[in-house]
Amino acid sequence: MKLFDVYPLYDVTPVSAKGIEIWDDKGEKYLDFYGGHAVISIGHTHPVYVERIKEQLDKIAFYSNSVQNPLQQKLAQKLGELSDCENYNLFMCNSGAEANENALKMASFHTGKSKVIAFTNSFHGRTSAAVATTDNPNINAPINKQQEVTFLPLNDFEAFEKAIASDHYCAVILEAIQGVGGLDEPTTEFFQFITKKCKEHNVVLIADEVQSGYGRSGKFFAFQHHGIEPDIISIAKGMGNGFPVGGILIHESFKPSYGLLGTTFGGNHLACAASLAVLEVIENENLIENAAELGTYFKEKTQEIPEIKKIKGKGLMIGLEFDFEVAALRKKLIMEQHMFTGSAKNKNLLRFLPALNITTKDIDVFFEGLKKAL
Ligand SMILES: Cc1ncc(COP(=O)(O)O)c(C=O)c1O
Repeated sequence: MKLFDVYPLYDVTPVSAKGIEIWDDKGEKYLDFYGGHAVISIGHTHPVYVERIKEQLDKIAFYSNSVQNPLQQKLAQKLGELSDCENYNLFMCNSGAEANENALKMASFHTGKSKVIAFTNSFHGRTSAAVATTDNPNINAPINKQQEVTFLPLNDFEAFEKAIASDHYCAVILEAIQGVGGLDEPTTEFFQFITKKCKEHNVVLIADEVQSGYGRSGKFFAFQHHGIEPDIISIAKGMGNGFPVGGILIHESFKPSYGLLGTTFGGNHLACAASLAVLEVIENENLIENAAELGTYFKEKTQEIPEIKKIKGKGLMIGLEFDFEVAALRKKLIMEQHMFTGSAKNKNLLRFLPALNITTKDIDVFFEGLKKAL
């Protein structure tokens, strides 16, 4: 059997990794400034992470959600404390798309309505309702197009007010910092405006923190830069540092009932052990503060490179915009400088999404490599 060929691959075969360093099958070293698409939050093979998963594997890796699993409670407790979201309840699943799928489903259950407002350049995943709220017709199959979604431009107060007043929406979903789309953000005024309007119209506000959450923006959640409180928060990527895990934080005003949501694998023992290890390291190594400080350092360093036209994002979720398409530059960075970076729907944008424990020295190395590649 062959693989279903959907990924255009770079000719690099990583076989081991430590922190931001990756080695390929030929013994060549690469630097990971992409975090495997914002997934690596605490660095590859962090010793605490490896130990916690191994310990758990020796005990029990999985049992279904029909029995007690105190690790889930422990995780919910710790996540509530570190994120300052103790007035939410946690439902665990396995990926970002699944998190958003459940968030949208909850919004529909809660309000009895079905239409959704999403934003231009959004990315919320590839499953049914999640992909329908993703602004990319190429990845929406006819079956996904049954979902009624209105796409609005970010920060357009008038368009938003008109839309939300004119129809029966169950949810507004948005990324506090757009990832795949290219690092555009709602302003604080817009975020506060839509929060208020959602309340007025009984519409559930979903903050998709799949990419921007877990400290990446310099706060636990990126919406926390704007002084608002969403109804549902979706999480994944950085949560497991590579272990497939996701979840939604559902405001305590939403009442659960048996069978309303469910999953076979979500919240299994290994996923909890990985997620707990991530939180332990984030806390003990002050990684949220590090992301904020290094984000500032990174932005200062960009002044050394006149080719950079615009800097977008917060903390260690950064986009560098050039006045040319960056595909060739990105390839050069990987093949010649041995540095991984990310692309975006905005073809002029290079994405920088490293582990949250990088140092100023790592950033200096990145800029040296970028100067050479330019
Ligand atoms: C903001 C956002 N939401 C959802 C997803 C989907 O996550 P997954 O690929 O884990 O399904 C992504 C993935 O890139 C994302 O960036």
